[in-house]
Amino acid sequence: MTELLFKGATVYSADGPVDSDVIVSDGVITSIGPGGSRRGKVVDVSGKWLLPGAIDAHVHSRDPGFPEKEDFGTLTAAAAVGGVTTVIDMPNTVPAVDSAGVLEAKAALARSRSRVDFGLWALIRSTSTAEQLVELAVAGAVGFKAYLGYSFSLSRKQVLHALDAGDPDLEAPPDYGTLARLAQVIAELGLPLVIHAEDPGILHSFNRPFETYGDVLAARPAEAESVAITATAAVARQHGIHLHIAHLSSALGLLAAEEATAAGTRLTLETCPQYLWRTEADFARLGTAMKMNPPVRSAGDQQALRDGLRREVISVVATDHAPHSDAEKAQDLEYAPPGTPGVQTLYLSCLELAKQMGDPWLAARWVSEGPAALAGLGESKGQIAPGYDADLVVVDPKQSTTFSPKSMRSRQKHGALEGLKVSFAITSVYLRGVPVYASGRLSTKSSGRMVRPAGVPIA
Ligand code: NCD
Ligand code: ZN
Repeated sequence: MTELLFKGATVYSADGPVDSDVIVSDGVITSIGPGGSRRGKVVDVSGKWLLPGAIDAHVHSRDPGFPEKEDFGTLTAAAAVGGVTTVIDMPNTVPAVDSAGVLEAKAALARSRSRVDFGLWALIRSTSTAEQLVELAVAGAVGFKAYLGYSFSLSRKQVLHALDAGDPDLEAPPDYGTLARLAQVIAELGLPLVIHAEDPGILHSFNRPFETYGDVLAARPAEAESVAITATAAVARQHGIHLHIAHLSSALGLLAAEEATAAGTRLTLETCPQYLWRTEADFARLGTAMKMNPPVRSAGDQQALRDGLRREVISVVATDHAPHSDAEKAQDLEYAPPGTPGVQTLYLSCLELAKQMGDPWLAARWVSEGPAALAGLGESKGQIAPGYDADLVVVDPKQSTTFSPKSMRSRQKHGALEGLKVSFAITSVYLRGVPVYASGRLSTKSSGRMVRPAGVPIA
């Protein structure tokens, strides 16, 4: 048995921060309390904070499909350095994760390269069947993702943002009808349904070339988000599904979500650091690093999202880590692909925001407890408590960090939070009791395991 004793830190426990030792046996936390003199290894973390590893519920590994943008190796290097000990990957890799066979092949690939634990979301296509969804659940999917308004290229097996109808290679996007048709099986499986909430009808009507950032905002109005939330929530409520809204970006979307919750929909909300830290005014400085779907909007939207976190209406902060190559992003606003990397800066940006909001420890709820509950991992991850995985992040509250391209481990170096200075630093990170990052050095081992939601039958 390998025993570890973390000595002298302020620990984020289920009851709030406590000054205590933490004892770990074989990768699992066994107790929080005085360690005394024990056999095993002592890790001196005096003066530091010990936080639960983050679970980034929304990343795009690009693997398999686009190794020039990212792969599980580079993704999870960035994650480990940033205190993210579990990533949950979106299904728009290529081939898209629309069947159990594709999910299993992707899991095998991820296992071979991943430095942190990982989970996989499965894709809902307009042609998906109930049987396919059951097979995906049995194969270990954390839940289902529907990209409203994103077509499916049959030849490339790829999710594509394409508003043009009429191309025989493009299968129609999933719509509210698709979700209503599949709702019963999703409810029976008890897994969350995640939506990319931008209504295609509204996007179509406002579509225009992008010359300025104002064009981006006009083409993807907040109304697209609120309409998609209201319509999907009506379906979810009817069938008792757990609906999760990815990357909430607007005050209007938040209002729609709160109305849906009040009407009885089981709904959780996720927003991202870029919507919490940036506004349209930052585009002049950041350029296409800030181009993403949905867009970063006004200062009023930012305030509403921060307020949603404060009121605990938003329970998850995830990154929508969506890297492209720096060369692709260097194109004009019209052609640069949407998305920004973010996994590496999730924890620190949330600690800083939570500190500004009066309680830095709130960050652990947004990036660890909230997403663990979403992904059905609430019995093994998301807390520092006996019986939980020893996914631990050591934070120095006296050392600052500035997000700069040269320290980024992702392939895309420039991101939407570039230049942000935070008053914390991550000094080491443990995955199930094993250090994956310490004193500036990253472990070379691919020791990540696949996580599966509790309660779903295993194949
Ligand atoms: C995502 C990507 O690149 O995979 N981009 C983004 O701007 N969020 C896809 C998407 O969700 O639109
Ligand atoms: Zn995404």
